[in-house]
Amino acid sequence: MFDPGRTLTLPALQAMCTHAEKIVALTAYDASFARLLDEVGIDVILVGDSLGMVIQGHETTLPVTVADMVYHTRAVSSAVNRAVVVADMPYLSYGSRTQALVTAASLIRVGAQMVKLEGASRQRLGIIEALVDQNVPVCGHLGLLPQSVYRMGGFIMQGRDASAARRMLDDALMLQQAGVSLLILEGIPAQLATEITQALTIPTLGIGAGPGCSGQILVLYDLLGITPGKKPRFAKNYLAEGAASIGAAIERYAIEVRSGCFPAPEHWIQA
Ligand code: KIV
Repeated sequence: MFDPGRTLTLPALQAMCTHAEKIVALTAYDASFARLLDEVGIDVILVGDSLGMVIQGHETTLPVTVADMVYHTRAVSSAVNRAVVVADMPYLSYGSRTQALVTAASLIRVGAQMVKLEGASRQRLGIIEALVDQNVPVCGHLGLLPQSVYRMGGFIMQGRDASAARRMLDDALMLQQAGVSLLILEGIPAQLATEITQALTIPTLGIGAGPGCSGQILVLYDLLGITPGKKPRFAKNYLAEGAASIGAAIERYAIEVRSGCFPAPEHWIQA
């Protein structure tokens, strides 16, 4: 049951998953929005490297540096009392165990409670184990991986054929085994996201991945309809849908995720 007075922790997120209570997540990059999200009762606030696109105006997340992430994570965490703050490890900042530990330390020191990294290669799994071994909580990220945009050939749905879907399910199980405590599933068919969620004991957060995840995450600026360029199919612009203020739009999103009204079928792809 949603309790705005409860300060969230990683075990609390795990308990929400176990009790099939939907987890509500959004990105934030500054103190003012972070405070608003926290007051409205968003459970997880991700300082995403999407800031490269929505704050810095780049075409991809690749130009974002560790210094950028530290700056924005410090701003966000200074304003948050209730939510769990997760910070992205940016492109090329976790290529070895030592580099990953140094990057994670700089993010944890400014208030992140968990770091996020993309993918599940053998090398990535070793890095996750090294982080978890040093008590750094890790969030994984599978499916459409923005840091692999050039390899994928664009921001394109993943896991659409049977062998890719099978590989992603295996990757998710290996990430869980390596110690991740939360997993973001982005841009994959709804049925695959449901299968992955059901196969895991840790919570999943979906973005463009259908309603079967343990919770949902959106880029805040997509929800407010202010992201430049083409509107992602999976996003809902709550201001355009009639919310009277930014706070009301965020609150509506939280209510719709908790009640299962968001995402609706027009926000996902079945296969
Ligand atoms: O960087 C980000 O905002 C993300 C979300 C899209 C999940 O990774």
